[in-house]
Amino acid sequence: MSSTKGFSPPPYPYDRLDELKPLADHHEGGIVDCSIGTPIDPPPSSVLNALALSDSERSYPPSIGTPALRNQIALWVQERLGCEVDPATEVAAAVGTKEFVVGLPHWMKLRNPNRDTVLYPAVSYPSYAMGATLAGCRAVPVPVNNDWSIRLDAVTDEDKERALLLWVNTPGNPGGGLDDLDAAANWGRTHRIPVFSDECYSEFTWDGSPRTILSSGTEGVIAVHSLSKRSNLAGVRVGFYAGDPELVDYLREIRKHAGFMVPGPAQAAAVAALSDQAHVEQQREIYHSRLGRLSTVLADMGVEAPLPQGGFYLWVPAPDGDAWLFVRHLLSEVGLLASPGEFYGPDGAGHVRIAAVQTDDRIALVEQRLAAV
Ligand SMILES: Cc1ncc(COP(=O)(O)O)c(C=O)c1O
Repeated sequence: MSSTKGFSPPPYPYDRLDELKPLADHHEGGIVDCSIGTPIDPPPSSVLNALALSDSERSYPPSIGTPALRNQIALWVQERLGCEVDPATEVAAAVGTKEFVVGLPHWMKLRNPNRDTVLYPAVSYPSYAMGATLAGCRAVPVPVNNDWSIRLDAVTDEDKERALLLWVNTPGNPGGGLDDLDAAANWGRTHRIPVFSDECYSEFTWDGSPRTILSSGTEGVIAVHSLSKRSNLAGVRVGFYAGDPELVDYLREIRKHAGFMVPGPAQAAAVAALSDQAHVEQQREIYHSRLGRLSTVLADMGVEAPLPQGGFYLWVPAPDGDAWLFVRHLLSEVGLLASPGEFYGPDGAGHVRIAAVQTDDRIALVEQRLAAV
């Protein structure tokens, strides 16, 4: 049954690439898909064992996360980010972080019906804007600098007054930029706007140590983290949020009512993953090496592809600014699938994003194809 009024979901961005894929059909070995940022390397066996042997299948898992998970999160935040959070009051689990990102504007609007605006970086992960749209809120992009960091001085007074929340993302997807998170936290405190800091790529910070919004305390801020990228667990769906106890309490309660629960085995797997840093160090080397190789492929094609300050994406200016043409060119020349930058907002339209999520063998295939051109 079709409806003539009301919301109609736009095409899902990555589905729009399907019709282009046959352009790589003539390459032996097929397409090398670097469009979606989905991990492909295996998680550690200790994590898989924990997933299999938790004995937690029978009962409903706690929505806020088991005490073991919340304690381990607090320990990880302390060891890796150098900050203190109270596992009893300042931490809770999420079913991966996408559901949290998208659901948040709706819950924040219920909390403060006088406000209606979600602020987010103009070139960014599309779910910040989609969450606002699905909540019937205004999605207002905040301009970014040349290094893809957010320009909070560009937010208008009207938007500040209407803002329910601000999203920041460091390291940023797709641009790999790093924000001054202390400045973002202060900005939020000054204007009484909660700041949500998506830090899911923090382990893959190349320029300095991982940054967190928690470094200036928890007041008015929430850090959002995911196990998906850090530990190659995107299929298990675990993340967490940590910060301001009043906000955490509100979100915990609302999410209990709504039935958000990370499955028990997944919570046990997350405890194992967060207590091991060796696999993350290994993964850092893998991504760094792949980024370098992909950047060289692009350079050999005459296209400058700078290495990011963080994250595992190359954010590449398309020759002549035509991203869709460049996506087609990469597919037909070397069989590599990139994402056109407009997926990350209109201001990204002149770039393409290449995710370093193919194995070394597959990247070698691209290198060989280029050598043969
Ligand atoms: C910036 C950013 N935030 C959040 C997510 C969501 O990840 P997950 O739902 O697997 O935790 C992604 C995934 O690509 C992302 O790039």
